[in-house]
Amino acid sequence: MSGSEHQFPKTFWREIELPTYEPLNEDLSVDVAVVGAGITGITAAYLLSKEGLKVAILEAGGVLNGTTGHTTAKLTAQHGMIYDEFIQHFGPEKARLYFESHMNAIQFVETMVKENGIDCDYSKEDAYIYATTEEYVDKIKTEWEAYKSLNIDGSLKDTIPFNIPAKAALLMRNQAQYHPLKFLKSLLEDAVNAGCSVYENTVATDIEDDDTEPKVVTKAGHRVTCKQVIIASHFPFYDKPGLYFARMHTDRSYAIGIKTDMDYPGGIYISADSPARSIRTTPYNGEKLLILGGENHKTGQGIDTLKHYEALQLFAKEAFGLKEYHYRWSAQDMVTLDKLPFIGKYSEGRENILIATGYKKWGMTTGILAGHLLTDYVMDRENPYMELYSPSRAFQADPDFKSVVTTNADVAKHLIKGKLEYTDKSTDDLQMGEGSVVMYNGKRAGAYKDENGKLYVVDTTCTHLGCECEWNRAEKSWDCPCHGSRYSYSGDVIEGPTKKALELLKEE
Ligand code: FES
Repeated sequence: MSGSEHQFPKTFWREIELPTYEPLNEDLSVDVAVVGAGITGITAAYLLSKEGLKVAILEAGGVLNGTTGHTTAKLTAQHGMIYDEFIQHFGPEKARLYFESHMNAIQFVETMVKENGIDCDYSKEDAYIYATTEEYVDKIKTEWEAYKSLNIDGSLKDTIPFNIPAKAALLMRNQAQYHPLKFLKSLLEDAVNAGCSVYENTVATDIEDDDTEPKVVTKAGHRVTCKQVIIASHFPFYDKPGLYFARMHTDRSYAIGIKTDMDYPGGIYISADSPARSIRTTPYNGEKLLILGGENHKTGQGIDTLKHYEALQLFAKEAFGLKEYHYRWSAQDMVTLDKLPFIGKYSEGRENILIATGYKKWGMTTGILAGHLLTDYVMDRENPYMELYSPSRAFQADPDFKSVVTTNADVAKHLIKGKLEYTDKSTDDLQMGEGSVVMYNGKRAGAYKDENGKLYVVDTTCTHLGCECEWNRAEKSWDCPCHGSRYSYSGDVIEGPTKKALELLKEE
């Protein structure tokens, strides 16, 4: 396969066969309703089912088809250059707790692989963060001091073994990589064997929580009555009055899977400076598939999205000698203002609604630790990481108040900018397979002409809070620059916070 621009993205991880489940078609009563069948929901459902609780997972689409199916799947506590910053903002104790909690998640995977014999291409790897500019060499040295003060097993290196002009690198030992869907499929099957029920194509739209027992309401009108709800739907489908959309921004990132002639030396790598680059391999038909990721940007903002894949291909060519281009995919992530995820009680006064979101692209360890933490909330057990990740943590706005202002000012800017935008393009100007903002009946609209010439025109006004969506050429979607809602070219919701489709003005 070549990387033709008209091909839709395809993730390597979803090549395996996954179980399928029927939608929910009746009311249900369980101990715990888990909304979302990604890494967090499945880990929590697995642990809670093993505790003997009656659990139901409600998934809006198919299992493991959200961000979990579109990752680079590194299992690491090396989440960029964070430890010096965390020590400055939160103190060494919390920085160390952060590190430990992610190392525990890696340990959980390793133990499960060994004890349950899960075949998921798990391998222990050294992780490296590298700098290609002098400015970041200094930052790497500062980060190394943070490692030493936190007792993180690592060392400082001069370079990395690729054709990349790295001037320094920081090693973190005992990290890992795996095939996330092979691993989570096994957990899901174990959960089901322990009594967990799973419903696909079941969209949760609301929670009725005026009673002691909350009820998750589905789009089809069914109710799941439970003692606890776990919102593991990536962007919370329920937002009253958490205002989670105003406390996070959304980022998109890209990955490609390629074959090269190079003899890969092992290890997982990430760049400290821009543009972001992530490097790892995975077994692939007796050979190795090199997975390169990066090119992060805020959703609905920045350059033509296809350019991000092209930049990764160029990087692959220069640094690794690209031989064959097999896969490409992208993901959307939530980033909180203080860079710590939100895991815990949804809000004060809503004790039986739990949430996990804001993983900042590090969902592989964060999802697993969230599954454990939420299980402890449900079981009413102490957990050393509760305060650190609590959505109502007292220390969260303190370190970076500026980013609160910037995030919301950015939203305001896009609210105004999109409305004033004028284009002289009309639907007649579109080529087959092309999408664009156009003028339609004198107003801004979004149009896409498919490969057969069928035209879809939508009102690009985001149904969440009214920003104007932009065309995403790589994924053929309408993306909102304000809080990251995404819609298909015909207006259907792909990602929240919105729950309502764009208005389809024309389809012919
Ligand atoms: Fe909030 Fe579009 S996602 S306005």
